Amino acid sequence: MGALSFPRFYALVVLILVASLAALDRCLTGFSPAPSPGLRAAILAVGAATLAMLAGLAWLYHRRLSTRLEGLRQFVEGLPQAAASPPAAPPAGDDLSGLTQALLGAAPRIHGLVESLRREAARREAILAGMVEGVLAIDREFKVTFCNAAFARSVGAAAPIPGGVPLLKLVRDPALHDMLRQVLATGQADSRCLQLSAAGDHWFEIQAAPMDGPSGDSVLAVLHDITRQERLERVRRDFVANVSHELRTPLAAIRGYSETLLAGALEEPDNRRLFVEVIQAHAIRLNNIASDLLVLSELESGVDGAQPQRCAVREVLQAALSTVESEAALRGVPLVCGPIDDVKVFGHRLRLEQAFVNLLDNAIKFNHPGGEVRLSAQRLPGGVRIVVSDTGIGIPSEDLPRIFERFYRVDKARSRAVGGTGLGLSIVKHVVEQMHGAISAESQLGKGSTFTVDLPAA
Ligand SMILES: Nc1ncnc2c1ncn2[C@@H]1O[C@H](COP(=O)(O)OP(=O)(O)OP(=O)(O)O)[C@@H](O)[C@H]1O
Ligand SMILES: [Mg+2]
Repeated sequence: MGALSFPRFYALVVLILVASLAALDRCLTGFSPAPSPGLRAAILAVGAATLAMLAGLAWLYHRRLSTRLEGLRQFVEGLPQAAASPPAAPPAGDDLSGLTQALLGAAPRIHGLVESLRREAARREAILAGMVEGVLAIDREFKVTFCNAAFARSVGAAAPIPGGVPLLKLVRDPALHDMLRQVLATGQADSRCLQLSAAGDHWFEIQAAPMDGPSGDSVLAVLHDITRQERLERVRRDFVANVSHELRTPLAAIRGYSETLLAGALEEPDNRRLFVEVIQAHAIRLNNIASDLLVLSELESGVDGAQPQRCAVREVLQAALSTVESEAALRGVPLVCGPIDDVKVFGHRLRLEQAFVNLLDNAIKFNHPGGEVRLSAQRLPGGVRIVVSDTGIGIPSEDLPRIFERFYRVDKARSRAVGGTGLGLSIVKHVVEQMHGAISAESQLGKGSTFTVDLPAA
């Protein structure tokens, strides 16, 4: 029936009926001698009845064909679903039997294909969702065609991000847009390290490559968060720069004073002793830096001669107090010892003692004459809390988060004047963390600082 609908089909049948009767009538009119009116009416009636019967038969056939075609259409539409009910078996030799048989034969293959595609898509979704790297695909208009949860997380957007969202709505960094634009324009893959503000200024190593998308060219980008590596690399660079700087200052002084002595100052009885004393002070400083660095590297690498042991906190703190006593007396800063509970902890006794010497030394050094340093140790469930507090100069709040970094000093000039290298607190932090403890600092500028060390009991 082709594209003919039912109403059109019947209009056509009626038209053919009327045309056929008109043609029959005209033929009868042309006969000579002309048939009597009765015969003519009878012939026309038989013709009309025959034509009406033929039309009825055609209608029945058409109805049957349409019903079966509808069945086939529903079957084909339902093919992707495994539950599609097959059409009734066609009678052999039927017009549609070939097509129906072919469809029935192809159905299991189509089901298999659809199933394997579905499984493949689910597997791909699971892999992409589980990736730590962000995956982003955009089209020529810079609209997101696909992205995974890691990408949404890294740009601070709520997942899932629907397809078609303009990339500009998610990430505004021009460097990323430039990179993707270039990949689209050249068709060449590219790789860059970029800092994305949308991702809280995290650093990413981004690999972008062209891809043939369903709607033309597109770009696929993989974003690997390298913020941690970048931070470590910066710390390493700063460390090397700091070490070089710290070594250069005393070395330059030693070299300068020794050259002055050799150039004739040796003969000046007033100066030579002074110059040699300066050289000695700088040599001691160099030695302090070297030994602090050695301690740090031992702590970091875990290569440490001594074996950890049970040590009594009270003994450790008393030993540390007696080490700094003379310094405290010299600076006029009294040491006040609060209640010290005797708790046993597990670690390196000498290292722990050194850590508290460092904390007490700071509390005395960065203090005023007449100020005060307090030390106490309080038993806690499962551990001990040791507090070193002072009424000293305090630490500005913007410096507080950085004081445990290697070589970090709030006031470089003052710290250097009192012989500090800026490694003391980083050693303390390492020692405490190696014992599975924690250290924190609170301070008020001009009022004093409090360092709290929590250690687990042995
Ligand atoms: N109790 C404190 N009061 C005020 N500032 C402090 C105190 N403790 C530490 N700081 C600040 O923190 C910085 C780092 O301390 P840290 O002990 O690491 O270095 P340092 O004392 O300068 O040198 P080092 O301990 O290696 O001899 C100090 O330079 C100082 O600016
Ligand atoms: Mg110190």
